Amino acid sequence: MAPTQAASVLVASNRGPISYDVREDGSLHAKRGGGGLVSGLSAIGPETGALWVCSALGDGDREAVRRGVGEQGVRMLDIDADVHADAYNGIANSALWFVHHMLYQTPLEPVFDAEFRRQWASYETYNRAFAEALAEEAAPGAAVLVQDYHLTLVPRMLRELRPDLRIGHFSHTPWAPPDYFRLLPDDIAAQVLGGILGADRAAFLTQRWADAFTECCHAVLGPGIPSGTRIGVHGLGADADFLRERSHRPDVAERMAELREQIGTTADGKPRQAIVRVDRTELSKNIVRGLLAYRELLTDRPEWRERVVHVAFAYPSRQDLAVYRDYMAEVERLAEEINSQYGTPGWTPVLLNMKDDFARSLASYRLADVALVNPIRDGMNLVAKEMPVVSDDGCVLVLSREAGAYEELGEDAITVNPYDVSGTARALHEALTMPLDERAERTKRLAAAATALPPAQWFLDQLNALDS
Ligand code: F6P
Repeated sequence: MAPTQAASVLVASNRGPISYDVREDGSLHAKRGGGGLVSGLSAIGPETGALWVCSALGDGDREAVRRGVGEQGVRMLDIDADVHADAYNGIANSALWFVHHMLYQTPLEPVFDAEFRRQWASYETYNRAFAEALAEEAAPGAAVLVQDYHLTLVPRMLRELRPDLRIGHFSHTPWAPPDYFRLLPDDIAAQVLGGILGADRAAFLTQRWADAFTECCHAVLGPGIPSGTRIGVHGLGADADFLRERSHRPDVAERMAELREQIGTTADGKPRQAIVRVDRTELSKNIVRGLLAYRELLTDRPEWRERVVHVAFAYPSRQDLAVYRDYMAEVERLAEEINSQYGTPGWTPVLLNMKDDFARSLASYRLADVALVNPIRDGMNLVAKEMPVVSDDGCVLVLSREAGAYEELGEDAITVNPYDVSGTARALHEALTMPLDERAERTKRLAAAATALPPAQWFLDQLNALDS
């Protein structure tokens, strides 16, 4: 529910910190989300009267807004469901996500036609709803932190409504290089950049993405950042205190025992090595090439058969989009194919699980011998940061050079080109054969680098930078 007084710090994002389901008896059940923003926001304390403006995402959320049910410090916007679907699925997760992660198969896509223009109009309406709500709720001179590719137009719209505000925009995704960004129609590309440039500061997870944004501005809008917007970089880190405490609770221990049982032991009674990956099944995560690399490892180096297991947790994401559902099906098909090709009565080469279970993810982090993080492109990839922090005995990180995390972790990881399946198979072999003392040393350094900027500090740094 909206607080009664105007807020001096506001956050805006599509997905908020809470969501609602309608139960069979008609009651509403609230689920709290986690993540960097939630823990970051908690750092400034309730007395600041911070407000998080987000969108209602499903029927439960919409019902909560209509019944006036809500949390102190959260305002959920009941944007028309069709408008939201166009903006979120059509523009944000299809066009903008695909551009920034360079996911198009360009002979046939993208097609920016009349249907795209119709969806773009919804994206504008949805961004305007956020800008108007923020303008209404913000105290004079308040700081507003706008998040992500869903809300690129908000900074400029809000600046026009409320010139007194200090506005920041933060991109959690990569930013496309100019040649790829310019797949977008010229006027749309200019609108996206101009929208973000309405902010006092545009911030990114790595210098690489910040530089790409600046290059796109030059290519599309002409030399110089026209509005004088400052560019910043804040590399969100893992929340070490939370992760270490949470990963030592009994439910995680229980799941570790189950996983150890499933992974099993070699003929001479030693635990098999585990190559672990944990992802939301997004097209950019490159799970299929990870499985192909694992298969190549088993094919080319038969000595690994029965001695290693690939634990792959691939949780559902954006299931309204057919291409995401098809991708999940392909992951499943390939895992089954590898298991029927190489599996034996006592050994399942791939343990694939698609049901989200946070305690089980943490259990897999603790026992991983090798962490496989090979995205095509990724804003940061927090899994790459979390695994070394939680690991019990050290794990080798096989890391894509296209993940934002590579900037901070590259030195102590084994680096891969995400498209090079044979190279990834070789990297897996190198990881599995790394001496244990080297593995432990590297893990220590990785954990230190991964926790350099905890979520609370990440958030405060952005607020402070808006003041300066
Ligand atoms: O994983 C990165 C990210 O782009 C975040 O910035 C953003 O919060 C999230 O994905 C959006 O995911 P969803 O579509 O599930 O809300």
